[in-house]
Amino acid sequence: MTEPRAVDELLAAFRREAAGVISRADFEALKGKYVNRERGLVPALFARLKTLTGEAKAELGKSANLAKREIEAGLAACEESVRAAEEAAREGRGAIDVTLPARGVPRGSLHPITATRRQIEAVFERLGFSIADGPELETDFFNFAALNFPPDHPARDTQDTLVVGGSPADPKPEYLLRTHTSPVQIRALMAHGAPIRIICPGRVYRKDEVDATHSPVFHQIEGLVVDRGITMAHLKGTIEAFLRGLFGRETEVRFTCSYFPFVEPGAQAAMTCFLCRGAGCRTCKSSGWIEILGAGMVHPNVLRVCGVDPEVHSGFAFGTGVDRLAFLKYGVPDLRLFFENDVRFLEQFRGAS
Ligand code: PHE
Repeated sequence: MTEPRAVDELLAAFRREAAGVISRADFEALKGKYVNRERGLVPALFARLKTLTGEAKAELGKSANLAKREIEAGLAACEESVRAAEEAAREGRGAIDVTLPARGVPRGSLHPITATRRQIEAVFERLGFSIADGPELETDFFNFAALNFPPDHPARDTQDTLVVGGSPADPKPEYLLRTHTSPVQIRALMAHGAPIRIICPGRVYRKDEVDATHSPVFHQIEGLVVDRGITMAHLKGTIEAFLRGLFGRETEVRFTCSYFPFVEPGAQAAMTCFLCRGAGCRTCKSSGWIEILGAGMVHPNVLRVCGVDPEVHSGFAFGTGVDRLAFLKYGVPDLRLFFENDVRFLEQFRGAS
């Protein structure tokens, strides 16, 4: 190798290494390697120069001097950028180190109840339902009377109502926290009349102790369809489509008789357990079925209160608990986890939509 080629290579190596300097330690190492008086590559080059004579010495001397100048300038530039980075870090500006892998942007996730509500809404939107909303603070009329609960009827006790206000002097307070989302159906039917096809998602309240499966605040989705010629067959088909949309096509639905003052006939729907597929497990208490919602044909008294003629129109209604569906769907062991908002729990639902 000719001497000048060796100098070119030395310079190329220096440029490469200088580009990789990101800290003061890197800079010191580079400086030591190239310009340290005892072991530096540049002083070694000049020591070699001293051993040459004549033309060889002149040729090498020229390129060695150029290399020395570039290396010194390069080191000064490295030192300056390290110093600037240190100063930025001290001031909290944080130097941008383009060689570091990108830091992930923290991403939030939907609460499992919100995710489940949205999945339910998506199924019903595909079936042509609109979403209706209403107040959580209700009057006796919308929560009970319009829904065919006679005054002082024991059916009101089944709802464990939380009243707002009330005192010995005012035994019948004007407001209560809605115990179901059925009052939204009354409001919507009164406002729009028939035909109507709505679901009402929302928060509801009952006087319940908190435990692994109960909460005084929970979420319901109720549905209402009123039109000419609506029958129980429409109700069954809709509920089947809903539960299959949420839990899978192979889900079977079973209807049994039940009582709610605002429907006649009233029914309770159960679906085949999506975990054991009917074989029997802990979730379905070995029965193979999970009770999932209340339903029925809208009572003529309810239609009448809303200004709809029961001789012309008929309808069905249903109601289900979102928390319970989410609880079952995600196999959550304790309902309280939904309300504690511990991010370690919530983060597990990142993929939920
Ligand atoms: N409103 C009822 C409840 O909260 C549920 C329901 C809705 C039942 C519609 C039948 C029809 O328990």
